[in-house]
Amino acid sequence: MDMKPFTPKDNESHPPLIHPPYKSSTSRSPSKDPIIVPQTISELTGPTFDHSELPEHSTDLTMNGRKTGEPLGERIIVTGRILDENGDPVPNAMVEIWQANSAGRYIDSEDHHQAPLDPNFLGAGRMLTDKDGWYRFLTLRPGAYPWGNHPNAWRPPHIHFSIFGANIMTRLVTQMYFEGDPLLQYDPICASASEEARVRMIADFSLEHTEEGFALGYLWDIVIRGPKATPFED
Ligand SMILES: [Fe+2]
Repeated sequence: MDMKPFTPKDNESHPPLIHPPYKSSTSRSPSKDPIIVPQTISELTGPTFDHSELPEHSTDLTMNGRKTGEPLGERIIVTGRILDENGDPVPNAMVEIWQANSAGRYIDSEDHHQAPLDPNFLGAGRMLTDKDGWYRFLTLRPGAYPWGNHPNAWRPPHIHFSIFGANIMTRLVTQMYFEGDPLLQYDPICASASEEARVRMIADFSLEHTEEGFALGYLWDIVIRGPKATPFED
């Protein structure tokens, strides 16, 4: 059993807890320095996940919310690897995603955006990475949506990711954006990470992972620790 402690958080890779242009970060962030909790056997070894716990179609968001037919939107494949600070794959990590539908609307009573809900789209999926650290979801490209942060504020299309790896005591949460999106430069959540680190949240279009006549491919690797870490939300 590997009991080596995980590399501590690399603060340069992650947004500060308070980033004033992202308004709610000032009211919901702690004002005192965090207390570092020592890593114990619970964080280092488990409990872990089991493939048998996953429901059918958990990786296919075009299927798992269907009631009457196909959800509307542009089909995309989002895939990549979960990697550690040494570039080694993290197998058996639980990857969960949630997102707005193609019109930019969530199934959420707090979402008041005047865009249609899609009765055939749930907007959530989960899977475990394979032995080489790969995850893969079939989903729809989410729409942009307005939010009240500042005048004419729009969130760029994004997919929320949560990674438990390799056990339930080590959760990381982040967002994936799309290459070439003009809204990225105006988004204070994306911009809360340093210029160098924020590009690590942007998925690249991938012809290799595009399926002819069916879905566009996007490739996005997630690095969970170290100086090349993907920026995460605390
Ligand atoms: Fe969102």
